[in-house]
Parts: sequence; C-alpha cells; structure tokens
Amino acid sequence: MSATSFDILVAPNSRQLLHNNGDQLLSADGGESFALQDGIAMLLQSQDLSEEQQREQTVFDTLQLQGLPYFRPLAFREAIEGITNALAGKVPQNCVELGGGEGHFAARLRQHFPAVNSYVCDLSLNSLKLAANGLLPIFADITKPIFAPETLDVAIFWVSLHHLNDQEQKNAIAETARALRPGGVLMLYEPNAAFLPRQIVYKTALAQDVYADEAEKAVDFAKVAEMIKTNGLNLTDCRFISPPYNLAFVKKLNNWPLYMALVETLFRLDRLFIRPLVGAGSINSFSRHLTMYGSAIFIKK
Ligand SMILES: C[S@@+](CC[C@H](N)C(=O)[O-])C[C@H]1O[C@@H](n2cnc3c(N)ncnc32)[C@H](O)[C@@H]1O
Repeated sequence: MSATSFDILVAPNSRQLLHNNGDQLLSADGGESFALQDGIAMLLQSQDLSEEQQREQTVFDTLQLQGLPYFRPLAFREAIEGITNALAGKVPQNCVELGGGEGHFAARLRQHFPAVNSYVCDLSLNSLKLAANGLLPIFADITKPIFAPETLDVAIFWVSLHHLNDQEQKNAIAETARALRPGGVLMLYEPNAAFLPRQIVYKTALAQDVYADEAEKAVDFAKVAEMIKTNGLNLTDCRFISPPYNLAFVKKLNNWPLYMALVETLFRLDRLFIRPLVGAGSINSFSRHLTMYGSAIFIKK
C-alpha cells in the first residue's frame, strides 16, 4: 500500500481519473478536487444523496454498535476461502468492501492477502473513521462510479446490497462490474429473501429490533444473479447458509435472548442437518427456504 493507492479512483460525476496530490485527489484536467482527510478519500458530497440515502447515512453515523462484526471468524474464513478458490491462484492487488462500514471484511482480506490494497467504501463517515489501520477508506456512494474500469480484483457486498433499492442495486452492480478486471471476483453475502420466517419478522414489531434501517429488504438471489449475469459475470458458486453470529453483537439487540436462541439454533440446524441432507445449494436449492443468508460468487468474463 502507498500514498498513490488512491490513484485508481475516479470522480463520481465526470468519471475522470484522479491522482494524488498531497492532501488532495485531483482530476486529470485539474477541474475537480476531492480532499484526503485523515487518510479518507472524500468523494461524496452529502447533498448529492437522495433523501432515502441521507436517512441511511444518519442511521449508520449514529449507530451504537461500533467495533462489532456481525459474524464469528468462521463466516469470514469460509467466505475468504470461496474468494481464494475463485481467484485460482492469482494474488489480488486491489480489493474492496462496498457498503463496508468499519471494514470488518476488508480487514480480514488484508490479513489473508497482506500485500493487497484493501479499500472500504461507505456513506457513513463515522463508520469509516473506525476502519482499521492499513485499510483505504473511501467516503462514497457505491451506486456511483468510484474506481477506474478494470482495476479491481475482488469486490464484496457483505451485508450491504440489501440496503439499496432496486435501481440503486442495478447501478451499484453495473459500476462494480465495470471496475472489475477480467477474471475479477464479485461476492455477495446477504440476507436471503426466500427464508420463510423472515417474511413474518418483517411484518411484526420485531423488525425494529433487528433492522437498523426500515427500508432494508433481503435479497432475491435468483433475481440479482440474473442482473449480475447481464453485466458480464458468470455465477460460479451459490450457497444458502445460516451464519455463525457474533454473540457479542446479538447481545446488543433488544430482546436478545430470543434472537440468540434463534440464530444459534438455525446455525446448528444448518450444519448438522440442512447441509448434510439438502446440501448448501445452488441458486434454486430448497435450502434457500431454510437458511437466513445467501453467499454467491461471480467471475467477470
Ligand atoms: C449493515 S451495514 C454493513 C457494514 C459492513 N459491511 C459490515 O458487515 O460491518 C450496511 C452498510 O451499507 C452502507 N450503505 C448503504 N447504502 C450505501 C450507499 N449508497 N453507498 C455507500 N454505502 C452505503 C451503510 O452506511 C452501512 O454502513
């Protein structure tokens, strides 16, 4: 990693390549400049956000759940194993966690690939300020251009794509697809819409305990996979899982004993019965109705 690691960024509106000039990122023609503030590339003008996005920003800027990954290390290890297999021996140079908050996934990617430039993009500046040393935080809207074409080896939406509405998802996927190199890997690790009990929780007061943002909706993996394919990527792996939640995180929720029992039971059911009997799945596997999350890996053609 070096001070020039931000040289693969573009101006979100003009798409002009930016280059590092002291504490600023300047566009090639010198007409646009963005601050580098405490090591954070400041690409976002908050007034450019929609009202919905500004609400989202306030939610995550003021969230009282700092420093706690949602999942235990096993979830990160298995996801990174999937990415490593998809890279087929290639050592990645540039990776990004999109909607990455404090960058828990980006930090683990960097531990696994120590030489990588590990970027974390988010519209919550307060979250980015908590990103670990060595990460490359970018204050940006992930539905807009951020990276120059064909500069990324790995991009991951880790519990973030479902915070975007349909049009925003399309934009974010299209921009990510453009930024990936041929052979680059895209991973989604998101709440799975086909999980039956989730539909009930969405409709009850319990939703307030578990969803920070009232607009969030779980992901229909089959639908999103079709959209990603139209952006020139092939689906290479899809599995439905109930992840091992970080119990310290669950304890911060209202009614936590209820959720602790639920997530631990689902995790064990998944490992002991669903995987051995039904399999972790393909995009239309029956296991999608029985598990909380989906994990999908795509490779750019
Ligand atoms: C549930 S959090 C997940 C954060 C992180 N991936 C993690 O697992 O800790 C969702 C994140 O998406 C971010 N987000 C939502 N919409 C975004 C957008 N349009 N651009 C950038 N970040 C966005 C939120 O600010 C929030 O930090």
